[in-house]
Amino acid sequence: MTEYLLLQKKFVSAFHSLRISRIVPNTPNAVTIYFDVPEDLKSEFDFKPGQYITIRYLLDDEDIRRAYSICSSRSDGTLAIGVKEVKDGKFSVLANRKLKEGDSLDVMPPEGRFIFESLGSPQNVVAIAAGSGITPIMSIAREVLEAHDDNRFVLLYGNRGKEETMFYEELADLQKKYSGRFSLQYSFSRNSEEGALFGRIDSAKANYLLKNKFKDVSFDSFYLCGPEAMIQEVKSTLLAQGIKQDKILFELFTSPVADEVEVAPQVTDDSKTTVQVVLDDEEYTLVMKRKQLLLDAVLDEDIDAPYSCQGGVCSTCIAKVTEGKVVMDKNQILTDSEIEEGYILTCQSHPTTPTLKIDYDDV
Ligand code: FES
Repeated sequence: MTEYLLLQKKFVSAFHSLRISRIVPNTPNAVTIYFDVPEDLKSEFDFKPGQYITIRYLLDDEDIRRAYSICSSRSDGTLAIGVKEVKDGKFSVLANRKLKEGDSLDVMPPEGRFIFESLGSPQNVVAIAAGSGITPIMSIAREVLEAHDDNRFVLLYGNRGKEETMFYEELADLQKKYSGRFSLQYSFSRNSEEGALFGRIDSAKANYLLKNKFKDVSFDSFYLCGPEAMIQEVKSTLLAQGIKQDKILFELFTSPVADEVEVAPQVTDDSKTTVQVVLDDEEYTLVMKRKQLLLDAVLDEDIDAPYSCQGGVCSTCIAKVTEGKVVMDKNQILTDSEIEEGYILTCQSHPTTPTLKIDYDDV
């Protein structure tokens, strides 16, 4: 769970149509997509390194939304995402095979709490990423290295092989530009390469990095980004090394297809709940079955509530319970204290009381 405790004020954001200015091949099955942000939207699309944007796309009348981390840096003034094609992925296939320069996409302004903020004094930062989990790390790495001349950035990056490695050239350029301050350790699981570790990222590799290769460096923060199993294993390893939980931030990277793995619903009965919803200062009332998911019931009423992954992975659908109770099928984002304060992921929540009131504006 991300232990970044400051819950950002989240405005219910509208989508804006942004023109694609460039699409650049990244690997044989991944592209980097650059957007033109018009002058009047510049401040709305200002981002913190590590944040993501949600893209909405209509495919055969189906409203498809996908969250993609921003890979560009603030200093070069671009807004870009890296999209890796996943098997049977709806948007990722389209992005890799059909989208072209000049097309437009509906994009929600940046969100997310997996962020780096410079303290103004030297910081040593470690990132451990696998596969497309590198995308937010690219933005964070550049910011760390640009923010202070004494900042140091260490990256352990796992892939099947060199060919599938996203941002391979850009990382080589960063190594040249910031030699001495940027250290990159690859780990390839399919073939051994000189200088790279062999195998997937696990506890042994995290220990090697921190207790051997960089044992003399004291790190201020740890960014983990990739599949859930990797994050859980590395996080446990870091905690076992005595690293404090609040120094460890993580972002789950799950493909939409993999994310369709069924989670046992917490509520299966047919009883109903009357729900009051506050959104953009408007109030709505609906009646729903408790076995239904709250976000689904809200969307069925044509209420324009925010959402993206619908899988409990991003944080776009957060609302605050101000009356009544819910139970969540899955939560990998909210901390225990945030849950105590009443915050919920509406895409994972079922009401458990006869009445419920949720507020999207109070988050
Ligand atoms: S929509 Fe992503 S966590 Fe609910």
